[in-house]
Amino acid sequence: MNQPRIDGLRSIELGVRDLQKSADFYRRVWALEDVSADGDTIHLRGTSRDHHVVTLRERPRASMLAVHFSAPDRAAIDALHAKAKAMGAMIDDAPSALPKSEGGGYGFRVTSPDGHPLCISADVAQHAEAIDDRSRPTKLTHVVLNSAEIEKQTAFFVDVLGFKWSDSTVMMDFVRCCSDHHSVAIARGNGPSLNHMAYEMPNIDGLMRGAGRVRKSGYEILWGVGRHGPGSNVFSYFVEPNGFVTEYTTEVDQVGDNYVGHDGKWWMEQNVFPCRWNMAGVPSPFTRKAMSGELLEEENKRCEEIMAQALGR
Ligand SMILES: [Fe+2]
Repeated sequence: MNQPRIDGLRSIELGVRDLQKSADFYRRVWALEDVSADGDTIHLRGTSRDHHVVTLRERPRASMLAVHFSAPDRAAIDALHAKAKAMGAMIDDAPSALPKSEGGGYGFRVTSPDGHPLCISADVAQHAEAIDDRSRPTKLTHVVLNSAEIEKQTAFFVDVLGFKWSDSTVMMDFVRCCSDHHSVAIARGNGPSLNHMAYEMPNIDGLMRGAGRVRKSGYEILWGVGRHGPGSNVFSYFVEPNGFVTEYTTEVDQVGDNYVGHDGKWWMEQNVFPCRWNMAGVPSPFTRKAMSGELLEEENKRCEEIMAQALGR
């Protein structure tokens, strides 16, 4: 067979301190829909046929528990597992059947060199119908991962998981696994954390309707609305109740094998930062703090201190 490779981004799995409060945000504000629940866990879908796009699990600390990717079939899963193992990646178990409440299928978990937990699966169930509503997110379209060693991380996604390099800026490497310009970007940071997750809106009107709903629900836009340089996607960033940065985005460039990527120097010369429209301005110190993962950790610490006080420790 050809080199085994990941062919899509499925979902993100988040540890959240308050399951019901978090679920309320993702249902009512972010406009996802319940698929299944199991004990301390809820899975929610977007409007595409993907089984779910977010998994919320109640945990003492908020954290990113996994990014889930798809591979074409079970043979690709076995081949990716063997390849990752041969190349020294950290893997707990052999591929196996996945829980029915998550759509079933077959897959395994692997940890990236910098410590990001990933899950790769095939044969996960899809919904029979998509939902027709342009004000709601269709799918999870990219994640940006903070890394202390982005060269190593990018090499892992390209050499082990079969991603293709799309572009680099001085801050980030963009890699793709489907026609979207990027499904993953690796950002220079202090270590393994989630910079942000992005959900695709069907078009700009849908993005503005969605962003309006989020604002009306009391969540101010953190950064945007604007249009990025690499990938050219329209962006609007928010902070959700746990401190994760979450994005509505649309119109990311669709690229093929003939796409020619550029390095940070080239992008610096294009004058497309921080926004092609010159609308969004530079990200504020608070935005940078939230994207670095620092805000989430501060909030975790604050909650731990409150809990310790309540318990009289
Ligand atoms: Fe983004």
